[in-house]
Amino acid sequence: MASLWCLLLLALPVLARDVTDEEYSRFPRLYQLDDYGACLARPGGLYCLGSFHLAPLQQPHALYDMLQEYSSDRHHFNRTQLHRGYCVSARCPRLHARSPARRFERCAALRARRLALRASLARLAYCRTHAQEYARQHSPAPLDLPQKLFLYVLGAIVALNVAGTVYDVATGDHAKKNPVLSSWSVRGNWRRLTASCADGDPRLAALSPLQGVRVLLMMLIMATHSGCIHDMLYLYNPRWIEQISRHPVLMIFLNGTAVVQIFVMLSNFLLAYNLLLYTKSNPISLRLLPYITLKRIARISPVYLLVTGYAATWWARSGSGPLWAPTVGAESDACRRKFWTHVFYVNNLLDPEDICLVQTWFLAVDMQLHVLGALLALRLARRPRAPRRLARLLLAACALNAALAYAFGWKSIVYFAYPSTLKTMYSGIPSFAWLYQAPWGSLPACLIGLLLAFLHFELQEAGVKVSSYQWLRVPYALAPLLIVSWILAGNYVRQFDAPWFTAAYVALERPVLSLLAGGILLGMLNGLEGWLKHLMAWRGWQAMGRMSLSVLMLHWILNLSLAASRPQPITTSLFSVVVDWAATSAASYALAVPLTLMLEMPAARCVTALVLRREPKRA
Ligand SMILES: *[C@@H]1O[C@H](CO)[C@@H](O)[C@H](O)[C@H]1NC(C)=O
Repeated sequence: MASLWCLLLLALPVLARDVTDEEYSRFPRLYQLDDYGACLARPGGLYCLGSFHLAPLQQPHALYDMLQEYSSDRHHFNRTQLHRGYCVSARCPRLHARSPARRFERCAALRARRLALRASLARLAYCRTHAQEYARQHSPAPLDLPQKLFLYVLGAIVALNVAGTVYDVATGDHAKKNPVLSSWSVRGNWRRLTASCADGDPRLAALSPLQGVRVLLMMLIMATHSGCIHDMLYLYNPRWIEQISRHPVLMIFLNGTAVVQIFVMLSNFLLAYNLLLYTKSNPISLRLLPYITLKRIARISPVYLLVTGYAATWWARSGSGPLWAPTVGAESDACRRKFWTHVFYVNNLLDPEDICLVQTWFLAVDMQLHVLGALLALRLARRPRAPRRLARLLLAACALNAALAYAFGWKSIVYFAYPSTLKTMYSGIPSFAWLYQAPWGSLPACLIGLLLAFLHFELQEAGVKVSSYQWLRVPYALAPLLIVSWILAGNYVRQFDAPWFTAAYVALERPVLSLLAGGILLGMLNGLEGWLKHLMAWRGWQAMGRMSLSVLMLHWILNLSLAASRPQPITTSLFSVVVDWAATSAASYALAVPLTLMLEMPAARCVTALVLRREPKRA
């Protein structure tokens, strides 16, 4: 392992087009923010935020040529643009113009002229005056209907929990209870949340390492998003990101987003495996499909829609600062526009470039593939040679992605994951909207999950003792290393961009990772021991793993609020990303406790009690 890292460090690409520190010190600052609060506190205060294009005022212009050359490197931000938040009233007090935006532009142009550059306003985020700011503080806008609705829903949830808990405690431990009311008991749900294993069934107990896997993946996702958010905001030292983005190890985060595929694989594995266990003693037919879908919706939608609802209503009001409106405010508006698409799980297909909470594409894809997966599992259960048919479908799905990628020129994320594209969350990149977030992009992982479930079930039924095959231990032990290597291989892969090559990589990238992860999963479930299994089966992960949905939903809101409320450009560094990540994960898990306990668990149980009474319990 250590030698692998060394090899990678040696392979660090030569810093070809980087400039010396002295040259760099002559660049205009990429980001600048004046004091927002002090500016707007003064009568007549005017604060504007926006981006400017630079152009040379004379030819030749050595500095401008250098800026252009520097920007042409894909790892660098575009330095012929400037991002400014100016207290226009203090910087240019004697300047007057037709409109605040014009005044802002001329004020910035004055500064740029000192470097013989012309700055023209490319995008205005906002201009705010003292009068507007104080009007807002003294008489906040009245609540609108969605905001009121959100409060009513919150109130109803609390009331249900109070009623359910009082009922549960009052009737004592042994009484026969109304299942609908008692499903809202905080006490009962707390016991479920903290139980060591929900089912006594040994086959399901064997799945306990999966909770550890979930927690590990959530941590990785949160770490990636913390770095992502630094990249998206105003930075004090953008050069650090530019330089670190060349580091091969960073590929773990850029290309590591493919680990989300493991979630897709796991969820379809569990779906099919539970279904197969169910078929052992029950008849099976396509009529189960609505039940399975409803059950999934009952589990996901309450938390999903409550958090998205918060983002669409109260999030924007919950803070302020120079960067608050263009980041949190803009995303909150997107949530309001797209809320209904979230209700129907089509937010990744309708207007996919308008993003409300980046992580929600996954919930949409997961639901779309869950229905498809259930359909396939129901069709194939009890059929002979089901694994072979699934394997054929898997090959077809990979070929489909390659063909789509070839036809439309879509590429895997390594080809467009650079600081400057990440800054706008890959907006305007069709590969992200139509391949990365699309259901067909994750279809292979879904099929792999189904395939493994059928294999695992058949192995169990046939009584095959996988752990007695000694030679299997080698690939099993190597698989985690192979996963990391496959992700890091992105460094190498992205040097080649022939259309046939990028299309082939699209076909392989995600499926290989899912297959490797699936191999580990099968090994763990079939008695192959190892440090990974012991680590993942730790009891402490159980409750945390059960809160994954709430954490997935909450972390982006918490992390962005934390970062966007800072009144100054962020000084970014490894430590500061780690600090944001630690704060976000602690806060997400803490807030996820009430959310899981008072909404996710009771809502799912309540629907089960109401509608699915005759259906068997499934994990
Ligand atoms: C940088 O931005 C300017 C517009 O300000 C644009 O014309 C140019 O193509 C961009 N450069 C790169 C390398 O993207």
